[in-house]
Amino acid sequence: MIVRSPFVKLVITGVLIFGVVVIALNFISYSRNLNDFEFIDDNNAYVIPNRDGDALIRIKADVKSNSKPATLYLNNGKMDIPEVRIRTYMISINHVQDHNILIREVGEGNFNILLLHGQSFSSKTWENIGTLQYLASWGYRAFAIDLPGYGNSSLPVVQEIEGAQWLTRLIRTLRLSNFVIISPSMSGRFSIPYIMQSHTNQQLIRGFIPISPVGTNNFQTTDYEKVKIPTLIVHGERDKKFQSAIQSLKQIPSSQILTIKNASHACYIDQPLDFHNELRQFLYTVYRPIYIEQYKQRSLANATSSSSENLNTSQNKISSNLTSNRKHFQSKQSI
Ligand SMILES: *[C@@H]1O[C@H](CO)[C@@H](O)[C@H](O)[C@H]1NC(C)=O
Ligand SMILES: *[C@@H]1O[C@H](CO)[C@@H](O)[C@H](O)[C@H]1NC(C)=O
Ligand SMILES: *[C@@H]1O[C@H](CO)[C@@H](O)[C@H](O)[C@H]1NC(C)=O
Ligand SMILES: *[C@@H]1O[C@H](CO)[C@@H](O)[C@H](O)[C@H]1NC(C)=O
Ligand SMILES: *[C@@H]1O[C@H](CO)[C@@H](O)[C@H](O)[C@H]1NC(C)=O
Repeated sequence: MIVRSPFVKLVITGVLIFGVVVIALNFISYSRNLNDFEFIDDNNAYVIPNRDGDALIRIKADVKSNSKPATLYLNNGKMDIPEVRIRTYMISINHVQDHNILIREVGEGNFNILLLHGQSFSSKTWENIGTLQYLASWGYRAFAIDLPGYGNSSLPVVQEIEGAQWLTRLIRTLRLSNFVIISPSMSGRFSIPYIMQSHTNQQLIRGFIPISPVGTNNFQTTDYEKVKIPTLIVHGERDKKFQSAIQSLKQIPSSQILTIKNASHACYIDQPLDFHNELRQFLYTVYRPIYIEQYKQRSLANATSSSSENLNTSQNKISSNLTSNRKHFQSKQSI
């Protein structure tokens, strides 16, 4: 039968498309059921069985609580810094002059954190206070660099006017996209103009964490108002010299301020516990990784019964009992 009316043709085509979509959706939902996650307890862990009966145990960090993320673990009043392998290597940045730049890289995954440093510091600082190790254990990939002329990177120091350009080259060389910049103090002369430079830069960046940075006076209110990046402005309570920087950055519409109590200019070094807890909380609002805890060769039944045990001994163990940890910390501190 040949149908002439365009209206009837349209209806028949519609019915056919509808049918195909229904079949496709059924198929998708069927195959999803086969791989469905099996929740094993309240600790946000689940086991994904595979065909051989092995269990891929994953821990999802705080998936259920949208409020406070977990606190860090404390061991005898000290922060329990996870043991994470730090890959240290040099790269060459081709700028006005070639720079050999030292990189400390940790973690896996496709969400990156770039850590710059202040005048008296280097990438080693982020290792010393455990920031790199925490970032890796939370499921991020992080790159701490020695800026040119600092730490183990080669001279010359980059001129202020070339800061943004140099940082662009670094980011290209490291092939970073989907990343967050952590930029304390002196490194502001790289990161602030980079953020302001163009909308292209802003699209690559998913978060900005300036810590009492320099170089904020070179831009106007209208510049700050145009920035669309989620921004966590960090400063130490006792750091009075950088008030104007905070006032400028506050004009970024999607910004929030973190005042670290009883801390000076290098507030992340004075109060690493507070800094790391708040850092994680902010990062979770930008991107919350799912990370693989371990992969064990064993039957599913045994995996299920022992996985809560794994959680208890895991280095990445996450507690939702914020208050008890804080109390624990304070009581240990006062000893
Ligand atoms: C950095 O340089 C110092 C001395 O200049 C050296 O002892 C150290 O091993 C270097 N670090 C790295 C990671 O290359
Ligand atoms: C502030 O920090 C210093 C060490 O940086 C410490 O000795 C002092 O007890 C702290 N004060 C308060 C009120 O926490
Ligand atoms: C689980 O492990 C126990 C030993 O720990 C073993 O005897 C048992 O057969 C295992 N169960 C399965 C289903 O493999
Ligand atoms: C893990 O810890 C929870 C409480 O923190 C406890 O109820 C549970 O029994 C522990 N699991 C194992 C296997 O020890
Ligand atoms: C959290 O810790 C406090 C103090 O240690 C305790 O009283 C409370 O029962 C804990 N809450 C949970 C949910 O474990």
